[in-house]
Amino acid sequence: MKDLTKSTRRRWWWTLWGLLAVSAAAVALYSAEPYAVGDVERNRIPLDPGVASHYLSIAVHAIPSSLALLIGPFQFLTRFRVRYPRAHRVAGRVYMVCVVLGSMAALFAAAFSVSGFSVQVAFFILTAAWLYTLVQAFRTIRRGEVRLHRVWMIRNYALTFASVSLRIYLGLGLALQANYFPSLTFDDVYHASAWASFLVNVLVAEYFIVQRVLRPAARRQGAAGTAPASAGDGRRVPVDAVGPAGSGSGARDRT
Ligand code: HEM
Repeated sequence: MKDLTKSTRRRWWWTLWGLLAVSAAAVALYSAEPYAVGDVERNRIPLDPGVASHYLSIAVHAIPSSLALLIGPFQFLTRFRVRYPRAHRVAGRVYMVCVVLGSMAALFAAAFSVSGFSVQVAFFILTAAWLYTLVQAFRTIRRGEVRLHRVWMIRNYALTFASVSLRIYLGLGLALQANYFPSLTFDDVYHASAWASFLVNVLVAEYFIVQRVLRPAARRQGAAGTAPASAGDGRRVPVDAVGPAGSGSGARDRT
């Protein structure tokens, strides 16, 4: 019975992971392609004609951000991290560089945006949170706090994934507008989607962190450190298996 629950949990984890990875890959490839080939005609947002570098800022933002979106799901795979710790470290560094480049360009894109003040504020807040969670993820792993690093990376990737949520909400919103709410404008739908894209993801990430990281840790503490650590994908692994950047030592983990 216990094994059945475990295998069901594992199936759920892989289904969720598959959905996450496939939607991330689809949005990343779809989003980056026109900017990667320099096809200005296929730019999807209105540009400020008075700002020559507006298109450039979107392109410099879209390409590394898409790469970060693509890499993210693989970094959460315990098996990959444990078997290939070097690949996890290299991919992690590439991810971090991509987020720094993507967020710097996002600041310009948000400042020049002609989509409206509310969208600009949403994107500024998203950029600040994107950078803050990245810095925390970097600082914790440098100190060897593996589980805290994992918590900050879950938060960070939830924000990266806002790009997928935004496109889903935009599509749903436009379908609702066409069929049920004709009085809504495109701007109404875009503004609501921009805010919901990261607020909902943050709530889901915090729920996941409590259920999958904090609760098992609290239970372990209650059991006086006799129980093994949770891998986060429904499997149980020894604490040592998730050391600093997957190097094999969990000794300094303070969570
Ligand atoms: C999570 C932090 C992010 C922030 C703060 C951010 C910010 C922005 C801003 C301000 C714009 C211009 C919007 C406008 O003027 O209306 C934009 C557009 C865009 N962003 Fe992001 N973005 C983020 C993540 C991503 C990611 C992860 C991708 C990868 C797919 C991405 C891909 C794009 C693309 C392709 C555009 C051009 C519009 C479009 O084709 O839909 N962004 N972003």
